[in-house]
Amino acid sequence: MTTAAKTEANKDAVPAKRGGTPEQIKPHRIDVQFDESLPKHWFGDSAFLSHVLNTWTAIFPDAERYFVRWSKKALASVTDAQIKKDIQGFIGQETMHANQHEKLWDLLRAQGYNLDPVLWVVQKVAFDWIEKAMPDKANYALVAGLEHFTAMFGEIYFENPELMNKMHGEMKRLFEWHAAEEIEHKAVAYDQLMQIDDSYALRTGVMNLAVVGLYLITFGNAFYFMAQDRSLFNPKEWLTIADVFFGKYDLARKTLVKFLEYYKPGFHPWDNENYHLAQPTLAQYEKKAS
Ligand SMILES: [Fe+2]
Ligand SMILES: [Fe+2]
Repeated sequence: MTTAAKTEANKDAVPAKRGGTPEQIKPHRIDVQFDESLPKHWFGDSAFLSHVLNTWTAIFPDAERYFVRWSKKALASVTDAQIKKDIQGFIGQETMHANQHEKLWDLLRAQGYNLDPVLWVVQKVAFDWIEKAMPDKANYALVAGLEHFTAMFGEIYFENPELMNKMHGEMKRLFEWHAAEEIEHKAVAYDQLMQIDDSYALRTGVMNLAVVGLYLITFGNAFYFMAQDRSLFNPKEWLTIADVFFGKYDLARKTLVKFLEYYKPGFHPWDNENYHLAQPTLAQYEKKAS
């Protein structure tokens, strides 16, 4: 079901002015500022947690520019007017995400981290060689698949405030804003793919590859950053990993359940009506802009 159709279906059920799905997708302006006062382990004093998100900060800009490239291309073949409008809003949001995360690269380098290997993997291997080797439809399916992850992580952000409150203030502002917009535009790449090719085999086949690639890069590079500041074999870090994934925060199971939703035949991102999680954050930026 398209975002437009979903909005129609939910119209009567949701009393708030903004319903269960976004009426209009547009970028919310932010200008994050970082300086050398940012601690190296800025997330709960944990190298692992900080470096998972530092890795995403390294890979998001190229990934998001890849999404933008394919969404601009999709505009030529998508005919649904609402989806076209959503795609334009999506392009605006992802462009801002890329620019805001990229601001951190120099600071991470100044802290002593080598970003070059992970940037080579995303810039050369993923978004040059693999992108060019794949058929167009597989690229659209990869954008939709990766967007399922960013929406999942956005939801996990808002569902786990006790954990997320451990972030350094400005980093929390960046990731919270990003998480909220990822939820808001979570159906756009999916609707775009459905307009181009709604094959179950295509979307799930590409997702099988996307999950392996994303996890390899995320954990591989997080451990590489940990090795760089000699925290890889620190037992405290491994206790945090166990607690976050299998203990108190139970994120391995929660993530798996959300991930598997994508494999349901007939799945649509707004089957999970979680827009309310993002709305308070988005409303803050709308208030500032008015
Ligand atoms: Fe994004
Ligand atoms: Fe996104």
